[in-house]
Amino acid sequence: MRFVYVMDPMDRVLPDKDTTFAFQRAAQARGHESLHCEVRDLFVKNGDVFARVRQLTVSNTPPHAVFGASEEVRLADVEAVFIRKDPPFDQAYLYATLILERARGRTVIMNDPRGLRDANEKLYALHFAKHMPRTTVTSSEEQIFAFAREVGGRAVIKPLDGAGGSGVMMLTPDDKNARAIVQVVTADGSKLAMVQEFLPAVEKGDKRVLLLDGEVLGAINRIPRGDDFRSNIHVGGSVEAYQLTPAERAMVADITPRLKQDGLVFVGLDVIGGKLTEVNVTSPTGIQQLSQHENRDVAEDVIKWVERAANDYRPSLKSIPAT
Ligand SMILES: Nc1ncnc2c1ncn2[C@@H]1O[C@H](COP(=O)(O)OP(=O)(O)O)[C@@H](O)[C@H]1O
Ligand SMILES: [Mg+2]
Repeated sequence: MRFVYVMDPMDRVLPDKDTTFAFQRAAQARGHESLHCEVRDLFVKNGDVFARVRQLTVSNTPPHAVFGASEEVRLADVEAVFIRKDPPFDQAYLYATLILERARGRTVIMNDPRGLRDANEKLYALHFAKHMPRTTVTSSEEQIFAFAREVGGRAVIKPLDGAGGSGVMMLTPDDKNARAIVQVVTADGSKLAMVQEFLPAVEKGDKRVLLLDGEVLGAINRIPRGDDFRSNIHVGGSVEAYQLTPAERAMVADITPRLKQDGLVFVGLDVIGGKLTEVNVTSPTGIQQLSQHENRDVAEDVIKWVERAANDYRPSLKSIPAT
């Protein structure tokens, strides 16, 4: 099969950490062809969406990515499209989701471009507000401080378009930087921010629950380093194995119907102390760390799912055994 990856340049990819690389490696091992492109390589001709792609071979040893021939492909003609561009969700990304919609329903697209457009990673969690810590979204400095007092003084403020822990800060009583923090995150009251009660359980870790088509692929726990409260791997959080509790499984079961409805197939939930804090959809990661702890390549599960989904689109491919 041929899979197109709409993503960042390959030289930004960390072969031993990044989930997209794990997808490419697993797909290659199963005999599929990887075609790489960036958002700017998408184009529309006669109302249909195409991409200028380069054939890609990946390897665990350097060089990790070797490009072959370049070609133009009609996205509806490949078996699957992986939209794996890292945040930020900017205007170029927005337009990409709009033109990728031309291929909607004609090939496997992971995740659905309309779902991606609808699901801001911080705000989408509000669909499941009963599972979230107490949360407000506002640009008003006074509302933010009133909310922080209401939740006992300590709160976490997050930009709505951040990722990897970037810009996530703690508000504590008597911190003479607190007003400056609020002003920075809200751009002096001109941008909405999410403010949440501080969950002390974060000390024990932020769980990343990876979901595939509504099923739990597995979970890892990310423990913040001693001098930070943010647990993102990107800012030095360390990873350990994690098994979901029955309560966490029940919460996941509550969330997945909506994800399915929105075409959000590969999703990473962030869960702190049993509470949902974020729903990662644009380019969720963690599969390599999960694979290490499970002693098996979990990316292979994802590729097998894509193969089955592609077979559903292409009855002619049904002869390919889906193992
Ligand atoms: N309500 C909260 N209480 C305590 N810590 C939090 C809270 N929300 C987020 N954090 C910490 O900040 C980190 C980043 O927050 P998150 O909402 O996941 O944004 P992102 O991962 O997109 O930067 C989390 O991994 C966690 O360590
Ligand atoms: Mg997160």
